[in-house]
Amino acid sequence: MEKNKIKAVIFDLDGVITDSARYHYLAWKKLADKLDIPFDEVYNEKLKGVSRMESLELILKNGNASGNYTESQKIAMAEKKNDYYKELIKQITPADILPGIQEFLEELKAEGIHTALASVSKNAPFILGQLGLEQYFDYIADAAKIPNAKPFPDIFLAGMEAFGLTPEECVGIEDARTGIEAIHRAGMKAVGVGTPSEMEEADLLLDTSELKLETIKEKFLLD
Ligand code: BG6
Ligand code: MG
Repeated sequence: MEKNKIKAVIFDLDGVITDSARYHYLAWKKLADKLDIPFDEVYNEKLKGVSRMESLELILKNGNASGNYTESQKIAMAEKKNDYYKELIKQITPADILPGIQEFLEELKAEGIHTALASVSKNAPFILGQLGLEQYFDYIADAAKIPNAKPFPDIFLAGMEAFGLTPEECVGIEDARTGIEAIHRAGMKAVGVGTPSEMEEADLLLDTSELKLETIKEKFLLD
């Protein structure tokens, strides 16, 4: 049987390319503390890959505070979190690129494999700029235009469609459980680089420093 060719790698950003997942946590923590709502890093795992408003709903639900606020108060709270977050991500520099990521992007470029960014974060383009990695991505999904956030497959499918490819020709990389689910729902193979206990569904679990084209091709029987 002829092997499929790998033609695109579709990356999540937060927690894959840089550890901005940490900043999301710190910003939510600051908001939760101000509201006197319990919130910790264990619960934060549930928020990875989840949209801003859905994250807020989960935090409020976890603190038994869902019914305490009006919709407009919730919008204001999410904006506050985003202000805290934007303040934190200003300090991101190229030194914050996770180990192996730039080398892997260079390898993909040299091999003519497409690269797409599939982050539901509206701050993703800013972070990419801070890291100096814009030139490595052929396509950056616009989070504002994606109808359904992860675990729906929409954002990974947008990456695939931008290159006119099939799911078998694409591989997704994620650090979140919801993200791995989104990749699978898109019909693609998923490489997990997140906390191992959250990555049970990944088809291949690696550290970012282990991301190599050969490893992925071998595991997924791709050419
Ligand atoms: C995802 C993060 O990439 O983006 C989530 O994993 C975050 O934690 C989501 O809530 C939305 O990001 P933003 O920057 O638009 O609030
Ligand atoms: Mg992520």
